[in-house]
Amino acid sequence: MAKKTKQSKALPIYILNGPNLNLLGHREPEVYGHTTLAEIEAMCARQAKAHGLAIVFRQSNREGEIVDHLQEARTGGSAVIINPAGYGHTSIAILDSIQALKIPVIEVHLSNIHRREPYRNHSYVSKGATGIVMGLGAQGYLRAIDAIAEILSSKSRSK
Ligand code: DQA
Repeated sequence: MAKKTKQSKALPIYILNGPNLNLLGHREPEVYGHTTLAEIEAMCARQAKAHGLAIVFRQSNREGEIVDHLQEARTGGSAVIINPAGYGHTSIAILDSIQALKIPVIEVHLSNIHRREPYRNHSYVSKGATGIVMGLGAQGYLRAIDAIAEILSSKSRSK
């Protein structure tokens, strides 16, 4: 069980998911695993709660909508965890939105994109990310929450 931090009044962590992640559990399970996005959301809510944190969990198949969610996080969120899915490999607009944030951003990929097809080896999002978790499947989201909890609590300690 993760250690509780004094973050209960903090703004929520925005956990954003890109295109086709609504199909998790059914889509190429040999690559992305059997856990559905709804199960990942429940796991994330539990993990965040154990740290005294709340989450906003979103998925979108539309690039502009992900940009809108990132802009919402500028004022409404304490941190962002984003699995940009296919847009990570193509979207400068999503990178721009991330670079406009002043809060920690962790990029997550279920698979290790460096072990996959060459066109998946580069992510534009990585340039704007505080840190990256990949290749750990659904567990990667939980490790990203742990990292955010640590970053936020060390920030509040240094205030
Ligand atoms: C992914 C990897 C991407 O290359 C792919 O387009 C996805 C999922 C992952 O979580 O491993 O949709 O981001």
